[in-house]
Amino acid sequence: MNLKHSLSALNKLRKSHSKQPGLFKQILHSVPVICNANRFAQSYQEQLPNGAPLKQPGENPLWDYFQNHTQGHGIWKWEHYFDVYHRHLAKFVGKKTDVLEIGIYSGGSLEMWRSYFGEKCHIYGVDIEEACKEYENNYVSVFIGDQENRAFWNDFKDKVDGIDVLIDDGGHTAAQQQVTLEEMLRHIRPGGVYICEDIHGTHNRFSAYASGLVDQLNSMRDSQFQSAVHSIHFYPYMLVIEKHAVQPKKLNAPKHGTIWQPFFKNTINE
Ligand SMILES: C[S@@+](CC[C@H](N)C(=O)[O-])C[C@H]1O[C@@H](n2cnc3c(N)ncnc32)[C@H](O)[C@@H]1O
Repeated sequence: MNLKHSLSALNKLRKSHSKQPGLFKQILHSVPVICNANRFAQSYQEQLPNGAPLKQPGENPLWDYFQNHTQGHGIWKWEHYFDVYHRHLAKFVGKKTDVLEIGIYSGGSLEMWRSYFGEKCHIYGVDIEEACKEYENNYVSVFIGDQENRAFWNDFKDKVDGIDVLIDDGGHTAAQQQVTLEEMLRHIRPGGVYICEDIHGTHNRFSAYASGLVDQLNSMRDSQFQSAVHSIHFYPYMLVIEKHAVQPKKLNAPKHGTIWQPFFKNTINE
């Protein structure tokens, strides 16, 4: 890091501290713990049995589609994403589903989503490149704009009621991913799923941002974030957020049973 970068990083730290000194101090205490976790994972050794089984045709329709797609509009995805998609998105198959993919490129993924979710779905594509308008048809609407521009999202939200599935495969910078999440999470309907792809590299800033969200999911104070968000999942290069379909019950940890050891006092409910 050169002097200019160091000064800019210090300035960001100073600003963050002056905004919320208490929060800043708490997070600072996590730094050694994060270093420990990094060290542990870097030196981790475990040999699993060799030979991941090949996926059988019919096991994952998205994977089958991708494997059989050898001609036509290009699709560019990491192979391991297909299991993640199917795990989190299968519940929408055949249903009336509004899907938003940020990053269209050669248009093949728009066709793949349509084939997977079925005739009742509508696909919204967003790209910064004007040329992507050509992918518009009766089941695909294309919006041209910069995903890092909050005004662009305001305009999008004026035009599109709500969406069920968001896949961020756009420019992949942390700033773009953060703005997109902040602008669009509330616009994803209850029960909806947010996916961000290509969060590459250690110490990725968007990954750090998402860890802050996990912090708040673990909060012992009820928050609207906690009642809207069901779960946050990390995969290699990928983040998935599932939203609750309905307002969940207040989080509670009741004790069941009549025979208790004297040595452990769980204070959560006391
Ligand atoms: C990795 S490609 C998308 C691949 C496509 N989803 C697929 O599965 O084949 C990334 C796309 O994001 C677009 N893009 C880059 N920066 C963007 C931005 N700031 N806002 C919106 N789209 C952007 C690029 O023009 C490009 O078409």
